[in-house]
Amino acid sequence: EKGGYPHFMLKEIFEQPRSILDSMRGRLVAENTQLTMSSIREYATRFKNADRIIIVACGTSWHAGLVAEYMIEEFARIPVEVEYASEFRYRNPVIREGDIVVAISQSGETADTLAALELAKSKGALIFGVCNVVGSSIARATDAGAYTHAGPEIGVASTKAFTAQVTVLSLIAMMLAEMRGTMETSALRQMMMEMEQIPAKVEKALQLDKEIQAISEIFKDATNFIYLGRGFNFPVALEGALKLKEISYIHAEGYPAAEMKHGPIALIDENMPVVVIATKDSSYEKIVSNVQEVRARKGRVIAIVTEGDTVIPQMAEFVIEVPAAHEALMPLISVIPLQLLSYHIAVMRGCNVDQPRNLAKSVTVE
Ligand code: M6R
Repeated sequence: EKGGYPHFMLKEIFEQPRSILDSMRGRLVAENTQLTMSSIREYATRFKNADRIIIVACGTSWHAGLVAEYMIEEFARIPVEVEYASEFRYRNPVIREGDIVVAISQSGETADTLAALELAKSKGALIFGVCNVVGSSIARATDAGAYTHAGPEIGVASTKAFTAQVTVLSLIAMMLAEMRGTMETSALRQMMMEMEQIPAKVEKALQLDKEIQAISEIFKDATNFIYLGRGFNFPVALEGALKLKEISYIHAEGYPAAEMKHGPIALIDENMPVVVIATKDSSYEKIVSNVQEVRARKGRVIAIVTEGDTVIPQMAEFVIEVPAAHEALMPLISVIPLQLLSYHIAVMRGCNVDQPRNLAKSVTVE
């Protein structure tokens, strides 16, 4: 059942070129700039006139929501708020009829996410679900939705469900841009073509496995890790840190790179591994300075860079090169080395990666 892999997690990491393709299948034909998602079309007027989109989710799904916030605001110019379902449901949130609430959940059974959407529904918002498990409670409670089609995810640490969520959410962002006329047709087509190339690029990123295993060996006994990213890669930093803590039990924190100087920089010394996602995008120059700040305090930088980068390799102790992609889609690629890094470190530490302590695959209690 593990398809020859020692753990479900590794199998699921390696399934991603395929699962991302499955999430796009029948929904994207770049050649003729065609996007199909009947559930969005069905509520076209609501989506077109939406005042605001509120995303509710927990854990990794919340990270996918953050990526979606950046994409939807950039492409479709709709204000987006991303909420932890558990906080949202208990704080008497302002919900208006023109709001659309998007609930993201792999299992479709997360108690807080379900309760948050029920609350929003009672206030008249349209509820849209992005779930992986077909027929799950959240999928049934929504007005409409799009399944992620990642296939069953057994490992407690979410991997292919995350990339499937980001894929579906990026298609939604593109559809909204098309419906609202906020993106030129040529730019939209370009974006769709970029999307079609993602599975092959993920495949390429997976070939870094051995290299990442070697880096993992060096850092397996670390007691802390910091993950930094900016823009679209900021949620990836959070996701990388979550992956590491949940399966290897190493304390890790993800931060927007610029926020570091407002506190966490005090933690940096020669014993602190700092994973920096520094791919070529609109915040590249800024992240170069952030890497310098870490180096100046002797932090041990492991940088995820775009293939061919010549600047960061001179500054970082370890460099992992991933294929170039449009910055909005980079999370689908930059997360791969981070999944592998946490996996290998956890295995080397003798942890039960598929069933980490204290955790369950779906959190059905609040
Ligand atoms: O099934 P859901 O997507 O609603 O689950 C949400 C979180 O419990 C989940 O993402 C959790 O954080 C994972 N273990 C992360 O790997």
